Order: sequence, then C-alpha cells, then structure tokens
Amino acid sequence: MHNFSEYVELINENLFKYLPKSEGLQKTLADAMKYTLLAGGKRIRPVLTLAFCEACGGDLNNALPFACAIEMIHSYSLIHDDLPCMDNDDLRRGIPSNHVKFGEATALLAGDALLTRAFEIILCNETTNLVGAKITIDAASCLARNIGFYGMIGGQVADLENSEKNVNCSKLNEIHNLKTGALIVAASKIGCIAANASKVQIEAAAEYAESIGLAFQIMDDVLDGDSKDKKIEKRKLSYASILETRKSKEIVKKLTQEAIKSLNVFGDNRNFFENLAWQLSKRDK
Ligand code: IPE
Ligand code: IPE
Ligand code: MG
Ligand code: MG
Repeated sequence: MHNFSEYVELINENLFKYLPKSEGLQKTLADAMKYTLLAGGKRIRPVLTLAFCEACGGDLNNALPFACAIEMIHSYSLIHDDLPCMDNDDLRRGIPSNHVKFGEATALLAGDALLTRAFEIILCNETTNLVGAKITIDAASCLARNIGFYGMIGGQVADLENSEKNVNCSKLNEIHNLKTGALIVAASKIGCIAANASKVQIEAAAEYAESIGLAFQIMDDVLDGDSKDKKIEKRKLSYASILETRKSKEIVKKLTQEAIKSLNVFGDNRNFFENLAWQLSKRDK
C-alpha cells in the first residue's frame, strides 16, 4: 500500500485532469468549481477509496475515477452547506466561502456542476472500459444512495430542522451518520467495490467507516468550537452544544477503538486504517 501523502498526490493530479478548463462561456463556473475543489481539503474520503482498493488487492487506477468523483461531491456539499440559506458561513478553510467570492447563484450552480460532473466521471466510457459495467453500476448506485435522500441530503435537512431544538445524543448520532458518515461509508465501500472485493470485505470497510465517520463529525464540532471560521452568535446543532469537550473526545476515542475492531479481514493492511483512525481522532483541523 502507499502512504497518505502519496494517495493525496495522485488524487490532486487526477482531480486536475477531470476538471473542465477555465475557458469559454463557462469560465466563471469552472473557476468557482476549482476554487473549492483545489483549496486545501484534507482528501480523507478519496484517500479511503484508494486505500481500500489496494487493501483488497485492487489496482489503484481502477479506484481513481471514483476517488475523484467522491471528492467533487464532498466539495459540492461544502459549497451548499455554507450558503446563506443553510449554515451561512462566510469562511471555509480560512478563506472566503464560495458564495462570498462568486455570489450565491454561481456558488449554487458550481455545487450542482460538481455533483453532476462526479457522475459523468463515473459513467464515462473511459471509466466503464477500465473497470467494467458491474463495478461502474455498483459504485454509482452506492454513491447515489449514500449522498441522497437516504444519506447526506437527508442528514443535512435533519440537521437544519433540529438546529433550534434540544436533541439527545442518539438523535444527533443519527443525523451525523447521515450528513457526514454516509459519504465516508460510500468512499470506503466503493474502494472495495473497485477491487472486486468480497461482501465480507465491503461490510468490514463500511463498519469501520461508520465509526470513523461519526467520530469525524464529533471532532469537527469540537474543532468548530475553537474555530475563527465560525460566527460565535450562530447556534449550531452539534456535540459541543450538548456535551463538554472532554466528554466528546472520550466518545471519539471509543468510536476509534470500535472502528479498529472491524479491520481484521484486511490482514497487515489494517495498519494503514488503524493509523488513519487515530490520526483523525487527534486532528487539529
Ligand atoms: C468538513 O469535512 C465537513 C464535514 C463533513 C465535517 P472535512 O474536514 O473533510 O473538509 P476538508 O475537505 O478537509 O476541508
Ligand atoms: C457539513 O457539516 C456536512 C456536509 C457538508 C454534508 P457541518 O456544517 O457541521 O460542517 P462544517 O463545520 O460547515 O465544515
Ligand atoms: Mg451544516
Ligand atoms: Mg457548516
């Protein structure tokens, strides 16, 4: 297997290749898509895709189109998440959010274009010729399921709807699993799918991803608490609003230990995912 930064390098090279050129009538749109896609994301989700593909004995090249599509979807979700009608955040990764830079209409459409381009990349001839129809269809349907009504979008609506309410941990977990966990689960499963992995491997990857996904969102909430990116007066549905930081961090640790228990089927390759889970649990951005 490769290391984290080698995966990131591959992802960045290929994202660049898959992005439309900044020219012609759609120049502004391409600029807006690039602005968020190429602005310092950690690339956790596409790294999981590549790493699970290799851990299941697959060829990295087969996972790369899916990894890039998944990072595009992640970028789209962030652009829309920051819009005034949603979280109304002016800063993302320490720089002006997409809508602050390009205006609301272009930001909305850049998100739409990233989402659409993601499926175009998965379904294009180049990808289907490379991986075959079965893998293409399984990956596309897994992704569609996890980012739509039954996944990320369902979670985003529940998040907004409950932001003024007092919710308990179990409801908050359910929301976090949908809005954040579902894409992380899809990224991991699709890596296995690209390697033609067994059902047992796919399920193990999903279990691991579900635990680190929840831990990831809890850490995100903890970090938001100290972040200069956020408006302090804004009420947000998060662990930070119902539990103290120390307790949240304990839950993150438990979830990380839980995640690691799912990794046995990956033999020695489990080390990569074990390290990743611990690093994510201790991250500072
Ligand atoms: C931020 O995700 C949004 C959440 C779902 C918590 P990341 O922390 O992975 O975002 P970037 O891409 O690295 O900035
Ligand atoms: C983001 O959740 C989830 C998605 C974009 C799907 P948050 O709203 O909690 O994340 P940040 O804090 O804006 O990154
Ligand atoms: Mg949000
Ligand atoms: Mg937000």
